[in-house]
Formats: sequence, structure tokens, C-alpha cells
Amino acid sequence: MKKKIKLGFVGLGFIGTLHATACFAMPLIFKSLPYEVRLGKVCKNNIQDIPHFFEGGVKTVEELLQDNDLNAVDICTPNYLHYGQAIKVIEKGLNLYLEKPIGLNGNEAYEIMKAANDRGIINQAALMYRFMPAVNQARDMINNGEIGEILNFKAMMLHSGYLDPKRPMSWKMRFNTSGGGAVIDLGIHLIDSIRFMLGEVKSLKAESKTYFKSRPKSNGSDVYEDVDVDDWTMAYLVMQNGAWGTMETSRISANLEEETRFLIYGTKGSIVVSTKQPRYASLYKKQENQFVMGKYNKKSEFSKYLDTIYPEEKYSLGWMVDMHMASLTNYFLNITEGKIIFKETPTFEEAYKSQTIIDKILQSVNDNSKEIEI
Ligand SMILES: NC(=O)c1ccc[n+]([C@@H]2O[C@H](COP(=O)([O-])OP(=O)(O)OC[C@H]3O[C@@H](n4cnc5c(N)ncnc54)[C@H](O)[C@@H]3O)[C@@H](O)[C@H]2O)c1
Repeated sequence: MKKKIKLGFVGLGFIGTLHATACFAMPLIFKSLPYEVRLGKVCKNNIQDIPHFFEGGVKTVEELLQDNDLNAVDICTPNYLHYGQAIKVIEKGLNLYLEKPIGLNGNEAYEIMKAANDRGIINQAALMYRFMPAVNQARDMINNGEIGEILNFKAMMLHSGYLDPKRPMSWKMRFNTSGGGAVIDLGIHLIDSIRFMLGEVKSLKAESKTYFKSRPKSNGSDVYEDVDVDDWTMAYLVMQNGAWGTMETSRISANLEEETRFLIYGTKGSIVVSTKQPRYASLYKKQENQFVMGKYNKKSEFSKYLDTIYPEEKYSLGWMVDMHMASLTNYFLNITEGKIIFKETPTFEEAYKSQTIIDKILQSVNDNSKEIEI
């Protein structure tokens, strides 16, 4: 008998739409899942436009939680709402999937993690780069010593969406509703991926820029509001294993396509991971002067598992939905088993650890790029 999971949504904007797309496509692509997900009600601001395959719309989390058949919730709202909404869901004892960053800052993330652990719910953050096959190939190659000792690295997430000076203010551009600009929105993915592939951060220093210092208050408005978050942040990181490198996040880098890229250099070679090739990392071995890209057979158990939950190329819905689908599948499989099956799962504890690094980056930025020990 398949496990019945009824999932309530909180927020159905940009990313909620991708989560819902993934939930919908999942049983079409993976025919023998041990669970069935039914989409319950959606809680959001405007409930006039709820698609028919949800049970309808409600305006508050309290109303959503009145449905006693729910056993899982997916929160996809602006960052400043996560804490209050997550605590309500956790107190009701429901399993929770929560978008990143899980809190506005490390303190909120800690409280959410603690509440979830105390209540014993299955929890997961949408730090879905952990479900990108190329990231896992790179992690396996590093752990298998393919490039020797890790020397240095660069991690980049360079977006261009904020280059339009007329782009109006939004919750993402106000510190009190976002917790930071590019540094938190994009940086949390990079920091979590760096931790996933290379281990823990030992110390850091960072610098930010806000190029567009004010924005129209709303679309087409002549009234401008000051922006108090960064458009660009660069952090210099030293890892506990001795490696060092940089993390660069930007919303003002004009590229034809938005790309997330990791370059990792070791004593024997280098590895490149890019969202342009989400299935494969490329490996260069210096002594052999050999460049390899494609299947890699020395896989961790988690990589073998990922092969079973990441859509095949012929069913790909694009790397964003594919990664979210694998991430959500992991959440549903954990609910089905009643436990976190793989330690690689981005639980709230992992999300909290990554968020504490973002807190330190912000602290360094605010203190003239001071070096900070973690
Ligand atoms: N993991 C990723 O790839 C990724 C990508 C984009 C955004 N995100 C994260 O997802 C979250 C949402 O971002 P987005 O870009 O989808 O935002 P968005 O503004 O497009 O959507 C926000 C949604 O929340 C709803 N909402 C707003 N106030 C609400 C309230 N009081 N109660 C209930 N619903 C409310 C809105 O109606 C809307 O449906 C953020 O935490 C963001 O950091 C993650």
C-alpha cells in the first residue's frame, strides 16, 4: 500500500509554482513511487487564481491547518514570513518542507530547527543544489582523491535581473523582509553547496556593493525608496581542511544565461560544475593531461540514490524543476520511511549551519571586511 501524503502549500508565487509543477510531474516520470501525494489547499494572499487541482485557497495558515487530513506542508513565502508560519506548522506536528533561507537570520533558523527537532517532524529545506547530479559527481571525485588535496575554489551565482533601474522594490530588496540581498538569496545556495562538497568554513571576510541605491516604490512609480540590501557580495573563505576560495553572488551581472558555477582546484587537477551541464562535472587530471566528462562510476550511496530520483534527460523539465523534483522526492521518501534516510538531506539543521555562515558574511561586510573566525 502506498503511503498517502496530503500536502498543503503556503505561498504559490515563483518558486511555489515550480514546486507544484514538480509534484505534479513526479508520478508521471517515476512510476513506482512508494507514496501518493495529493495537493491540499493553498494559503496565499490572492486566492482568486488557485488552479483546479488544488482543493482551493485560504488566506491564513490557521485556516490551512484546520484540514486534519494534512500530513505535510510546503512553505514558499517571502523570507520574513517563514518563522511565524513554520512554527505554526511544526506545533501542529506536520512534516515541513521550507524554502531557503529558512529564517531571516541564524537566530530564526535556530529556533525553527530546534522546534522541528523537538517535535520530531520530518523536515527539509529547499537547498536543492544537494540534488544536482554534477555537484554530487564533484563531491564523489573530491572524496575519491581524483584532484588530490584541495587548494582553492571559486563559487559563483551571477544573475542579471536587477540591472533594470526601473525594477520596482519588492520584499527581496528590503532587509527587514529578506535578511539581505544577493548574499542571502543566492549566497545560501553557494555556501550550502561549498559545505556539502568541501566541508566546514573556518574563517571568512566579505565585501558588498549596492549599485542601484534606490528603486521605484511600485511598478511605474516616480516615488523612489532607498535600497538597504546588496546587489553583489564577494566572500573570501578559508575552510577547515585548509582550502581557501571565494563565493561571489550578483544580481547585476549581465550574462546571456544565468549560471551557477563552481571551480575547484587541487594538487592533481581541477573540477568544474556548471548549471549549463547539471548532470556532469568535468574533471581535468594534470599528470595525465586528461579531461573527462560524463559518467563517473565511483559513486557514493547518495549519488546512486540520486540516480533513482533525478529525472532522466528525456523527461527533463529544466534543471531548476529537476533539482526541486529530486529534492521534494527525497522529502516524501523520508516521510514514507518516517526518518531521514540519507545524512546528505538538507535538514533544518544543515540549513541553520549554512545560515550562520551568511550571518558572519553580513557581519564582516558591516565591519569593513573584518576577518571573522567561525
Ligand atoms: N530554492 C530556490 O530555487 C528558490 C528560488 C526562488 C525563491 N526561493 C525562495 O522561495 C521563497 C518565495 O520566493 P518567491 O520568489 O516564490 O516569492 P514570490 O513573491 O514570487 O511568491 C511569494 C508567495 O507568497 C505568498 N504570500 C505573501 N504573503 C503571504 C502571507 N502573508 N501568507 C501566505 N502567503 C503569502 C504570495 O501570495 C506568493 O504566492 C523565498 O523564501 C525565496 O528565497 C527559492
